[in-house]
Amino acid sequence: MTTITHTGRRYFLGLLGGTALIGAVPGIALAADKTTTASGFKPDLEIELRAAPDQVGIWSGRPTSVWRYQAKVMKGDAHAVTTLPESYLGPIIRVHKGTKIRIHFYNDLPQASVVHWHGLIVPEVMDGHPRYAIPPGGKYLYEFEVGNRAGTYWFHPHPHGHTGEQVYGGLAGLFIVTDDEERALKLPDGERDVALVIQDRSFTRDNQLRYTGGGQGMGGMMGRMNGFTGDQILVNGHPDYTLTAERKPYRLRFLNGSNSRIYKLAWDDGSPFTVIGTDGGLLAAPVSRPYVTLAPAERIELWVDFSSRKAGEELTLRSLSFPVSGGGGMMGGGMMGGMMGGGGSGLANGAEFSVLKVKVGKGVAQAEKLPERLSIIAAVTPQQAGNFKSPRIFSVTAGRMQWGLNGRVFEMEEVADDEIVKLGTTEVWQLENEATMGMMGGMPHPIHVHGVQYRILERSVHPAAMSGWSSLSAGFVDEGWKDTVLVMPGERVQLLLRFNNYPGLFVYHCHNLEHEDMGMMRNFQIKA
Ligand code: C2O
Ligand code: CU
Ligand code: CU
Repeated sequence: MTTITHTGRRYFLGLLGGTALIGAVPGIALAADKTTTASGFKPDLEIELRAAPDQVGIWSGRPTSVWRYQAKVMKGDAHAVTTLPESYLGPIIRVHKGTKIRIHFYNDLPQASVVHWHGLIVPEVMDGHPRYAIPPGGKYLYEFEVGNRAGTYWFHPHPHGHTGEQVYGGLAGLFIVTDDEERALKLPDGERDVALVIQDRSFTRDNQLRYTGGGQGMGGMMGRMNGFTGDQILVNGHPDYTLTAERKPYRLRFLNGSNSRIYKLAWDDGSPFTVIGTDGGLLAAPVSRPYVTLAPAERIELWVDFSSRKAGEELTLRSLSFPVSGGGGMMGGGMMGGMMGGGGSGLANGAEFSVLKVKVGKGVAQAEKLPERLSIIAAVTPQQAGNFKSPRIFSVTAGRMQWGLNGRVFEMEEVADDEIVKLGTTEVWQLENEATMGMMGGMPHPIHVHGVQYRILERSVHPAAMSGWSSLSAGFVDEGWKDTVLVMPGERVQLLLRFNNYPGLFVYHCHNLEHEDMGMMRNFQIKA
């Protein structure tokens, strides 16, 4: 029997005789009963989710030791969980909006962990806040109703200081939500709805993962300040990924599941993308982009018409080069950033490489029309926020060898006065990225906020930073719902956020996972 006590809080989780889980969280009752809890929660879908060490065959020869999520459906639709073949990535969970889901999470890792449902709006105790991390051998019971609109969400560990290491080890999975509005559109479905997780990794000569993002010494320090980039690009856990497609339209859902690499995705023949969705689901209408910029944790959904391709044609999705170092200062990564490109990887952030190949089939082409309107999304203006005249400002700051937010770093239980918002209000948040770190200069930071999906109101750029910014800006898709936004060096981004869901303590942070782990994260409180 293990009992885990969170000192300072009236909250504990325990394994009683291996089955029961008791939580003393006000308002939320966690109980051992398999079908109903004290709060009357009746799950439509019940899953067992386990994080454990495992081995997968990524390369020929010795298998790679990884950490991975494995799930099985205990109750409800058996098709709600699918596994990626021969991959370290976790299962894909697919549910309809409104599904009540119960997840029994078992931590079989040698480290403390907790699961965060990135992009889903769930109560505080279900959100995977680092203070709810459970030790090796521990169990956590998640129960929530999926209230998000249709979209591509995901889940990953969130223990403080070890998120980068655990995600890198293989712990991440997709959580795909559908709803009636989306179903009615009859978008490409089944085999033609493809989820693609892009990640970078480095391997030792005997096929083992190499991670220096959290290490000691000069390499570890640079790794933490820049973020870790690997020199191999994997899609769904596989190098040299090839998608075989019929000559029909496809829906491709991309997640950048990398710790800190930014992708500038483009087709090798220069044909533009038709973007239909972002982090929080479908856009109001499709938009076209010459390329798409995808920062860590961001998702993008493309509608790709392979019916217009020649039978047997092959195409390559590439990540184009962009400057992370534009001469130091506010221009970008500066000398050190450009040279080191992360924790000692041979493939710097901003380098060009191939991401995946598509082999188009030889069958008869079958065209389909993409609807002109996809979803109802209301227009937003700053005036919708109570504080539009004086936005809440969050500035990236550079401390001694450490990035921060408004001069602060993460403290488990701490929330400052200017980090408290009122439930039911709408606010403008202004993210400012003007800090530079010595010779490294400035860096792009993908800023994520838990507990909400937000809208992007506007971006403004310092003239001195314009050239670095414009090398990626045509690939931003700011039209829809977002939970992560890339803020470039010298840039200010205004967000509109509605705090109309759950009260509680949530986090906002940089989703460069090495930055997050070193403390570029803060609590904010939604006060009832
Ligand atoms: Cu995907 Cu707090 O993170
Ligand atoms: Cu999140
Ligand atoms: Cu950052």
